[in-house]
Amino acid sequence: MVQGLPDTVTFADVAPIIRKHCTGCHRPGQVGPFPLISYQDVRRKAKTVRKMVVGRWMPPWPADTAYSRFLGERTLTARQIAIIAKWVDQGAPAGDTSGLARLDPSAWTQGGMPPGMGPPDAVVWLPEPFFLPGDNRDHFIITKAPFELARDTFLRAVEYVPGNRRYAHHMNAAMISYAAGAKKDPGKGFAYIDADSTKSLDAYAELGLQNDDGSWPLLTPNMVNYLPGLSPPVYPPGIGGYRIARQGAFLLNTLHFGPSMRDTVDRSRFNLWFGRVPPERPMKELFLGTLGSSPVVPALVVPPDTVMTFRTSMRVPSDISVLSINPHLHLLGRSFLAYAVASSGDTIPLIRIPDWDFRWQFAYTFPRMLHIPGNSVIQVEVVMDNTAANPNNPFSPPRTALAPAGRHMRTTDEMLQFFVNYVDYRPGDEAIELGQ
Ligand code: HEC
Repeated sequence: MVQGLPDTVTFADVAPIIRKHCTGCHRPGQVGPFPLISYQDVRRKAKTVRKMVVGRWMPPWPADTAYSRFLGERTLTARQIAIIAKWVDQGAPAGDTSGLARLDPSAWTQGGMPPGMGPPDAVVWLPEPFFLPGDNRDHFIITKAPFELARDTFLRAVEYVPGNRRYAHHMNAAMISYAAGAKKDPGKGFAYIDADSTKSLDAYAELGLQNDDGSWPLLTPNMVNYLPGLSPPVYPPGIGGYRIARQGAFLLNTLHFGPSMRDTVDRSRFNLWFGRVPPERPMKELFLGTLGSSPVVPALVVPPDTVMTFRTSMRVPSDISVLSINPHLHLLGRSFLAYAVASSGDTIPLIRIPDWDFRWQFAYTFPRMLHIPGNSVIQVEVVMDNTAANPNNPFSPPRTALAPAGRHMRTTDEMLQFFVNYVDYRPGDEAIELGQ
């Protein structure tokens, strides 16, 4: 029980919470399915609003903040939840709203780069618009955004800007780098491939990502992420950052559009900010699990009507400073836990997601660099639920779910991946803040 709530809770108490934590997504042109701006808006949805906040489904933030903390956390306090619940229970009265400040858009939790960044140095457009059919279904698309720059250079920050914020739900992209002379035309093979279509047996080959001689170019996984309202990380100068080849492509591994009732289009782009000097401490990555460098145990096969636990682990060879992490599962995921165990026996919590929701896949950035001593072992534990009780089970009755073989990827396949973005450790890193 939360103590000390007003006897009568009115919209004047509720509005500041809604504006700060909900309106950023719940307004016209944004991803929320209806606006939560005015008293009427919120009143009309009062019962579901109560249910969503009490159940901690909204605002979406899957990670357990009692386990580990991240930048840009979107959670309500117990008191804020109690205020909303009491307001709804009392019939959602307007009360005196004259004291409510006019709606100030800057108060909303918003995406976007910090103003100090200035305009981007280059913009990479998706070559053609995407046609989103009005079939009221989720769409998971695989595509690429090819680029040719003036020269090889250094990337300080990159931002994905969806053309259609109403339906763009989330996006994860890797970067492909072509060595000089390896690829005549990085744009060849461009397509929007529906990840659920049975036709796309090998989406990467279909997109023509290979070098001209058929070999595979360098791929930097998990480089850019988009989620409504989250800003891409801008690390302190010299930390993180990438080399970017003159010729390459962003590989959009998952471009998720929410259901639309009518036909519409999206044309999105990447904004790039270059660094003048090579990143002093370039970004490195550990990639655990499916298609990565540590096996999933047991092998990822989930028979129908079973709930199973899968693990993957990796020894960290030398001291590292972690900047961000990215857990990735598909529809059958139930929970996700990752931590490191140091050789001293100490446990370093990384992330706990008690109720996995494939709709909200975040890249999580730590507030300060997180030191993991060399020889620690990173452990990942995932529960997958292939029973009919899992509301996200794509098949009814359930069918055997497998990890994809090769590069063929459909959302109805299962995956267990965990990415750790880091730089080599230096004493004092623990104090370096990563916020903008
Ligand atoms: C990051 C964007 C975002 C934020 C922030 C957000 N929502 Fe949502 N909300 C969505 C989306 C998208 C949906 C549609 C369901 C889905 O895709 O999971 C949704 C659905 C809902 C629903 C309908 C659920 C249903 O099943 O009918 C309610 C109610 C809701 N949100 C309330 C809130 C409230 C209250 C807040 C703030 C405390 C909030 N939302 C914050 C994006 C957001």
